Amino acid sequence: MPDAPRHRNFINGEYVDARSSRVFENRNPADANDLIGVFADSAEEDARAAVDAAASAYKTWRLVPAPQRGEILYRLGEILRDRKEEYSRAMTREMGKVLKETRGDVQEAIDMAFLMGGEGRRLHGQTTHSELPDKFAMSVRSPIGICAFITPWNFPMAIPAWKTTAALVCGNTVVLKPATDTPLSSLHFAEALRDAGLPKGVFNVVTGSGSRVGMPLLRDPRVKVVSFTGSTSVGRTINEACAPDFKHVHLEMGGKNPIIVMDDANLELAVDGAIWGAFGTSGQRCTASSRLLVHRNVLARFTEMLAERARALRVGNGLDESIEMGPSINQSQMETVLEYIEIGKAEGAKLVAGGSRLTSPAHANGWFVEPTVFVAERTHRVATEEIFGPVTAIVPIGSLQEAIEVANESPYGLSSAIFTQDVNKAFVAMRDLEAGIFYVNLPTIGAETHLPFGGCKQTGNGHREAGLAALDVFSEWKSVYVDYSGKIQKAQIDVPAGASPSA
Ligand code: UN1
Repeated sequence: MPDAPRHRNFINGEYVDARSSRVFENRNPADANDLIGVFADSAEEDARAAVDAAASAYKTWRLVPAPQRGEILYRLGEILRDRKEEYSRAMTREMGKVLKETRGDVQEAIDMAFLMGGEGRRLHGQTTHSELPDKFAMSVRSPIGICAFITPWNFPMAIPAWKTTAALVCGNTVVLKPATDTPLSSLHFAEALRDAGLPKGVFNVVTGSGSRVGMPLLRDPRVKVVSFTGSTSVGRTINEACAPDFKHVHLEMGGKNPIIVMDDANLELAVDGAIWGAFGTSGQRCTASSRLLVHRNVLARFTEMLAERARALRVGNGLDESIEMGPSINQSQMETVLEYIEIGKAEGAKLVAGGSRLTSPAHANGWFVEPTVFVAERTHRVATEEIFGPVTAIVPIGSLQEAIEVANESPYGLSSAIFTQDVNKAFVAMRDLEAGIFYVNLPTIGAETHLPFGGCKQTGNGHREAGLAALDVFSEWKSVYVDYSGKIQKAQIDVPAGASPSA
């Protein structure tokens, strides 16, 4: 591999090889002959070195005034904006989604940098009145310590940015272990943070596998917060690994996100939304519209329109601006998708578009699957399990009530949507769908950074990222009482006269 660029871990402000000098390859999923580079195949000792750096940096970073921390994030936003095109192109080559979408991914990181940069001058707590005279009460946010992040490949800059910008403005330090399919985008994010003037050791990146890098991070007693985005099964393992020493754990996991299409919907709009929601990022979003609960009165028309649009999507290398959908992330993910297509056919779901791997010369070296649409029953596996690929299942429904019931049958609860022109139906769905995110006349994807992002049931563990809700993951409340009465006044006991009728 004489020409492959060699990328290193970013620890304590320096680029360093894995101590073992081992490396792993990263290849373009649209063209397996395109070697992007080799990356540090790290192990426990590298994870430990990164935690050492984060521990030492924490001593001073937590004391840097929050407005100054915010200013560094503001500069991060400016740098990412300047390098948006460069980083987006590298991301498309690294993970396959089309340029329009990787530009959106970098933009999401820019938005987070400015959002949390501004938070540096807020980070509001509360002041309130004491129940006793000459006593003052307030609550302030305190940093927690070292945070370990385990992030997925589908949003390789946005998701690390969601977590990192919120953690840093609160005064924590970070060790990031990115997915092995997308280490380069994380290193680009680190480079931008470095150039923004972040002190060394405050943010560190260690590349390598979950078992050799992720697990040691979770087990290190100095790590106080773990934030993970990925599958529900890995999330469960992480939760268990963090339980013995009561680490704060934030989990963002699977989804099987429904779009309800009512019979009064604007069908053109609903089909447009379903195409974008199901096949954007090749269906590899936690928020992908992987179930379409369509009213029987419009089922035939909707199915025909959707199948036609799905068949017409241009699939290929995302660096070509005319391409609308890229590949699956790697061979094994593509095989999972193809397996699900076989499962769907075997259980009797009706295939109405796609269903095969693309093998033309333009596709032969990549992991391309056709945009695939099934008409399924609500219990079919293609309609209930998260596939993480360009496959969506239409499930016929007869009423709004039935649609809500089918939607809520899922163990997941991330995103949800309804297409209707009836405001009453929209509000009933808003109230009754069990999901952390809800859209009217939009698909299930497209969350904005200043609102909380996350889900209920097996999608999450009660926390949210992005928005101001993220601050709750990365800070701890400290309630402060200041007594200037010169006496030891006892709360609940020395209640002043007038507070009780019998006094
Ligand atoms: C994900 O699906 O993993 O709302 C994140 C969206 C994007 C983020 C998705 N802004 O679809």
